[in-house]
Amino acid sequence: MGETQIREAKWQSEEEQAEVGIWRCIFGFTEMAVVKCAIDLGIADAIESHASPMTLSELSTALGCAPSSLYRIMRFLMHRGIFKEKINSQGSLVYTQTCLSRRLTRHGEQSMAPLILLESSPVMLAPWHCLSARVRATETPPFDVAHGGDIWRYSATNPGHSQLINEAMACDARLVVPSMIRGCPEVFDGLSTLVDVGGGTGTTLQVLVKAFPWLRGINFDLPHVVSVAAEFTGVEHVGGDMFEGVPEADAVFLKWVLHDWGDDECIQILKKCREAVPDDKGKVIIVEAVIEEADQGDKLTEVRLALDMVMMAHTTTGKERTSKEWGFVLGKAGFSRYTVKPLIRTVQSVIEGFP
Ligand SMILES: C[S@@+](CC[C@H](N)C(=O)[O-])C[C@H]1O[C@@H](n2cnc3c(N)ncnc32)[C@H](O)[C@@H]1O
Repeated sequence: MGETQIREAKWQSEEEQAEVGIWRCIFGFTEMAVVKCAIDLGIADAIESHASPMTLSELSTALGCAPSSLYRIMRFLMHRGIFKEKINSQGSLVYTQTCLSRRLTRHGEQSMAPLILLESSPVMLAPWHCLSARVRATETPPFDVAHGGDIWRYSATNPGHSQLINEAMACDARLVVPSMIRGCPEVFDGLSTLVDVGGGTGTTLQVLVKAFPWLRGINFDLPHVVSVAAEFTGVEHVGGDMFEGVPEADAVFLKWVLHDWGDDECIQILKKCREAVPDDKGKVIIVEAVIEEADQGDKLTEVRLALDMVMMAHTTTGKERTSKEWGFVLGKAGFSRYTVKPLIRTVQSVIEGFP
């Protein structure tokens, strides 16, 4: 093939990709919307709790749905690998779960439904319409345009939305913290007390004190969040503002908190954390995404970059950071060194900062 033909073939293949790619841009939202619909209907829960795979007739009766509409929803989801169909021993076409659809159950071990319900809620979708305001940086941040204040102020006066956030965060903690306990349990060696700053309703500490029963946990969050947190042996709930102070402990844990803030606020929070831990064995344990400087082909890079866009839409100054950027904020806050430990098949890594 000559050089002109090679260039022509490359152009043709780019054109073909663009023909499909542009439709993904136009209708990309349908995936989230239909998955939310599946969660609202309880499709994955119904199949999970049924003794065997279900026919369309069984599923529509169980869910109280019109079979013709449910069929179209299932066809769409199956095309994306969410649910599959097979012929059972009686020769009927039946729907079964897949690894992906199991994550749409409400309470299953791998459930990620609460995160989908949060991100697809009207409150969280509205700011996306004003994303350009954040990029211009001269205008009011997207969440404030949509709701008249930042996400934490909005949540303090909207208990329903606060609950959606708390449940979504608890769902992530139930997946990430066990991955951390499996992948780098040494992070907790020698600790007797641990304060989880911005710990939500305390799921992270519940999982940790169960795994390390000698550990005493302090779950620290805004007063309206800890006021609805369930009691758990070994975990004390403390309400307060991390910009004013952090309860003392051997180490501070911060998961998905610092990415909500710009560098200046991060440094302020980390300085308060630094004051709360002892000089000798103290440390901060940060669980956050680490953006690669150069693409190394990690399948979760796309998710981390999407999370960075979520920070743009939903927070005033938040962002995802590279390892170097984590080092910068830690250094400015008075931590002399830091390490980064990636977690297998997990969006977040573990960053430890030492005095
Ligand atoms: C994205 S959530 C992370 C929750 C939890 N760490 C997790 O990953 O499961 C951020 C948390 O920071 C808390 N937060 C926001 N501003 C705070 C402040 N000024 N002081 C203490 N907590 C705060 C929020 O209430 C929320 O629970």
